[in-house]
Amino acid sequence: MGNQGEIELIKSPIQGFIADLHHRYQHLQDGVVANYIPELAKVNPKLFSIAIATVNGDVYAVGDVDHLFTIQSISKVFVYGQALADRGRDYMLTRVGVEPTGDAFNSIILDEQSKRPHNPMVNAGAIATTSLIKGNDPTERLNRLLDMYRRYIGHDVFVDISVFTSERSTGHRNRAMAHLMLNFGMIDAQIEPVLDLYFQQCAVMVNCRDLAVMAATLANKGVNPLTQETAVDSGCIKDILSVMYTCGMYNFAGEWAYKVGIPAKSGVSGGIIAVVPGQMGIAVFSPPLDSRGNSVRGVKVCEELSQEFGLHLFDCSSRFWDKLGMIAAPTFRNGN
Ligand code: DON
Repeated sequence: MGNQGEIELIKSPIQGFIADLHHRYQHLQDGVVANYIPELAKVNPKLFSIAIATVNGDVYAVGDVDHLFTIQSISKVFVYGQALADRGRDYMLTRVGVEPTGDAFNSIILDEQSKRPHNPMVNAGAIATTSLIKGNDPTERLNRLLDMYRRYIGHDVFVDISVFTSERSTGHRNRAMAHLMLNFGMIDAQIEPVLDLYFQQCAVMVNCRDLAVMAATLANKGVNPLTQETAVDSGCIKDILSVMYTCGMYNFAGEWAYKVGIPAKSGVSGGIIAVVPGQMGIAVFSPPLDSRGNSVRGVKVCEELSQEFGLHLFDCSSRFWDKLGMIAAPTFRNGN
């Protein structure tokens, strides 16, 4: 938490716990940084930060919290929310499904019958989603997305031009997917401006603290807990968190739901966000990835946080109620 870090470290059990997690996992060497976008391969694999923002507006952070990196696939969550707000849920469902794939984030598979991409968290679904962002021209559409990010974070953001152009000149797989969807009428717009906007939304620069505040905004019914500005209509939150829960961690989504049990999203630059509805947003940044494209340290940290604070959505013995000195749920007796 910037210059308040040391005070928080002594006072808060949350700050103490994330500082301990950071200390324990900073020497973990597993994983490899993404290199299929050439510019991403230049990152320092040692960078590591953890941040938690509560719905009350408290922020706890440790490590390289000011380091800026590109948001990559974590953008898919927020752009899906914007597309839901722009087009409505029923229309979105005609263009992008909500089924987990069990496949990698970049799989070139569409639903056999409907020809829709399976969900908005994989690349194909995210590209289709981006094509539905409203605006009269490419500049207006980009500005609408940048303004959306600003509402979630609380300050202006910008696109890293070198990462954007690096992906634009090498992203042939995404280009192939866009053409396939154009072929099936799942994209109406011209391909290149859609891909440009998708690569730009992925190349927006954030730090770990920003991501925690974005996640906390989702946890707080779409209202940024630091600025009180509405970032997304509260009616979209349930839909956004549902696809994060079932699809956000790609072909690790099932195991993640089982072990960690909260909606989450990862990105190839090494970020992970997780949302505890009504309570907090969590963010971890550490570039080395596992074979499914999820940050190795990020997964470990989230597993431990969930365990320590009883965050799993289906954990009926939630320590939250214990802390309030209340009984978790009414006890049902046979025959009553
Ligand atoms: O489209 C891509 O491949 C990247 N811009 C984003 C992929 C990504 O972050 C997947 N996450 N694990």
